[in-house]
Order: sequence, then C-alpha cells, then structure tokens
Amino acid sequence: MNSLVKDAKKAGERVGLISDTITIHGGKPLNGRIRVRGAKNLATKAMVAALLGSSESVLRDVPNISDVKVVRDLLEVHGVLVTETAPGVLHLDPRNVLQAHFAEIDAHAGSSRIPILFCGPLLHKLGEAFIPDLGGCRIGNRPINFHLDALRAFGAVVDKSYEGIHLTAPDGLKGAKIEFPYPSVGATEQVLLTAVLAKGTTELKNAAIEPEIMDLIAILQKMGAIISVEPNRVILIEGVEELGGYVHTALFDRNEAASWASAALATGGSIFVEGAHQIDLMTFLNVFRKAGGAFDIEDDGIRFYHPNPGHPLKPVNVETDVHPGFMTDWQQPLIVALTQAEGRSVVHETVYENRLGFTSALNEMGAEIVVHEHGLDGDYRRVPKRDLEQAAVIVGPTKLKAANVHVPDLRGGFSYLIAALAAEGTSTVSNMGIISRGYEHIVDKLDQLGADFTFEAQD
Ligand code: EPU
Repeated sequence: MNSLVKDAKKAGERVGLISDTITIHGGKPLNGRIRVRGAKNLATKAMVAALLGSSESVLRDVPNISDVKVVRDLLEVHGVLVTETAPGVLHLDPRNVLQAHFAEIDAHAGSSRIPILFCGPLLHKLGEAFIPDLGGCRIGNRPINFHLDALRAFGAVVDKSYEGIHLTAPDGLKGAKIEFPYPSVGATEQVLLTAVLAKGTTELKNAAIEPEIMDLIAILQKMGAIISVEPNRVILIEGVEELGGYVHTALFDRNEAASWASAALATGGSIFVEGAHQIDLMTFLNVFRKAGGAFDIEDDGIRFYHPNPGHPLKPVNVETDVHPGFMTDWQQPLIVALTQAEGRSVVHETVYENRLGFTSALNEMGAEIVVHEHGLDGDYRRVPKRDLEQAAVIVGPTKLKAANVHVPDLRGGFSYLIAALAAEGTSTVSNMGIISRGYEHIVDKLDQLGADFTFEAQD
C-alpha cells in the first residue's frame, strides 16, 4: 500500500523501496548541514574482509544503505554473526562460517556487484564458493573477466552457469603474478582479499589505488596481512597462515560528499558536509573551484557553496579517470551544475561506456547537452584513454523546468534530484529505491537542507 510519509525523519530512517517516489517543489537553494558516513565502496568490502578473520571484527560508521544490507544478508547466510551494537557499528563474527543453501544465495541475484568479492574468502574458508548473478548500476557492460582470470591464477577452478559462478580450489590457493589490462577497483579488491591467505607471494601490476583500496589494505594490515604498495601501481602481498579480526572506522564517502557539493552549486545554496576530508577530494575540489564553486575547509568537514547565487557558473573540461583522476562517480551530479555555467563544458567519461545516458532526461528539463559516442578530439583532451569513452557537451546557462523523471542508476538518480531541486515548479522523481543503494537517509537529509517535498513510500 502506498502512503504519504510526511514525517521525513521516519522516511529517512528506512531503506527505500524501488517504487518510492518523491515530489519536489523546486527553485530553492539547499542550505544547511548534513553528515556523510562511511563509504559504500569501502564499508561493503570491509564487511567481506571480516570473513577472512578467525575472530570478531568491528566496523564503525557503516551507512544504512541497501548495498550494506545485501552484504550483511549474504554474510549471515554463510554463518557470520552480524550485530549492530549502536547505529552504524557492526560486529562481524566469522567463527562459524558455513556453506549456504543455493536458494539463500540466489535470493540476492541481481541486487549488487559486491558478492563477487566473496570468492577468495569463501574459497579459503570452505574450499568452495557460489556467487549469484551480479547486479549493480546499468552504466555499461561491467564484465568480471579480470576477477575470474585472477582467481584462476591463484588456482581456483571457475565454473560459470546461467545461475551464477561456482568456484572450487582442489589444490588450495597459491600466490600469483597478475597484471591487469586496466586498474579495476573491484578486481584489485578481489586480488587483495584472495592473496592475503594464499600460499606464497602475489605481485599485482596495474592495480587500482583509490583511497577506498588503501583503507581496505589498512584493514587487512590490522588483521595481520602483509601488503606493500610499491611505486607505479604495483602491490605485493605476502600470504600469511591466519588473520585475526579488526576494529576500524570506515573512510568517509567521497562520492556522497561530492554529490552534495554539486547539489549546493546547482541550487545556488550552501551545504556543510560533515565528515568530508580535503585530502581525498583534492581533484574534485580543483574542478569545483574552476566551475565557480567555493569551499571552506574545516577540521570536521567542508562547506561547499555558490559564491554568487543568481549568477552563472564557469564552464569546465573534465575527463573521468582512475585515482588520482576525476572519479566517474562525480561527473553525473556535476553535469547538473554545469547546465548553469556560461558557455560550453565538456565532460569525457572514460571509465564506463554508458554513464551519460541520464542526460536525456536533463534535456527534457531544459538542459542543452549533446552526447558524443566516441569522445571528442582536440584541445578538450589530454590523451584519449579507452575505446569506450563518450563525451557530453553541455551548453549553458539554461533554465531548468520541472518534469517527471525515473531514476536510471545511483548517481544519475541523485543528479535528477538535484535537477528537480534546481528547477522551477513541481517535479516527481520515481524509482527512488535505487538511490538508497548508496545514499543514506536521503529524504531526511533533503529535509535538513530545507528542500520542499513530499515523499510517497510503500508501507
Ligand atoms: N572492467 C573489466 N573487467 C573486469 C572489471 C572491470 O573490463 O573484470 C572494466 C569495467 O567494465 C569498467 C572499468 O573496468 O569499464 C572500471 O571498473 P572497476 O572494476 O574499476 O569498477 P567496479 O569495481 O565495478 C567500483 C565502484 C563504482 C565506481 C568504480 C570506479 C563499487 C561497488 N563500485 O566499481 O561505484 O564507479 O569502482 O571507481 O565499489 C557507484 O558507487 O556509483 C559506482 C558505480
């Protein structure tokens, strides 16, 4: 049954359902203070790491999002005892890890990409792993060939079927020499989570070095692992016999912080993001400043604001890249702000092949954005990166008008929220549950920032 949730707090505390819809009366700046907690893209991996331990782990600052729920459920069906002793504090006890039933695992098919990271830990603990069909945002093909090739290099036998992936390791897992064609975040995590208990040393070349990966390495080191990050994207892992538990506070969510920064810019407002740290946002902050945004860095967070509300922003040329480049997850919310820049901005997406499709709804709202399927040559580029790149050319400023839009993916969905908040008139944004995969208490936070909306949730 549908019901109108007037109490934003109540709505914010629940993890949303796909069918939730928000009605936004836009054209007002977002002003106020919100707090970001641990990163979706670290907390979920840290939870998987707990499987490797022989004693309990404690993870703090875990956000209340549906991706965390999926990982928690999958840990529980494998016998990990998970208890939340205070909001965002998870105790994960892996002392009774057991084989899960196919149906219990399969219940999570299509809901997230994180289950692929259970491979190594389950192989170590049980000698066998079954991984359901993966989900995650539809932003490109998102193959898992680097993961499976790496697992085979460790000695795993991989059997893929329409139901999922079945893995065994008849001779145990042994350290390997692996070089990725591209520094994939997930595949680097796969190697780390597998190599720490493999026999011998693993050398990984062309590894991803995102801050979330460094935080995962810090967690594994707390557990007893020996991992060294060498120059030029090389990571060496010396396998150990046994790992203990960890106590760790998750790295803050850089993607959420950058999303709220773009929301402040697009709506001509000012948002203090408690928990944001400058060091992990340096590349974003440079672009934010070049686009005409301003920020004040405090010990406990960063205030992002539009210094001249009512005046246009400045156009920028941005190219998404692996760390320390401009993250792909930051471009979607930023594009909404760039519709308010005077002149022509160019955003090249080089990580995923389909992460600019969300712009068509922005055009329906009055934006002027053209997507070029194969990127642009010339002065806009440093070096062409990959075959799959695309470019969005955004010409502004254009007044945004209200519309009824449907969330396509996590970051695209947040971008639609920003566009609806910036647009004059009443918009609806449906399929809100996708946003709750990665943004904690979204409705509550919009309320704290003074947004004018009603939220329709399913009971
Ligand atoms: N790739 C392959 N083969 C593989 C793995 C990756 O070709 O086996 C390609 C992908 O198709 C893509 C590129 O490599 O073109 C990068 O993918 P990567 O593996 O680095 O990304 P991921 O681990 O699947 C994580 C985040 C994403 C974030 C990217 C890039 C999680 C759960 N997801 O994805 O986050 O965009 O790294 O930083 O950590 C989001 O939060 O909205 C999100 C999509």
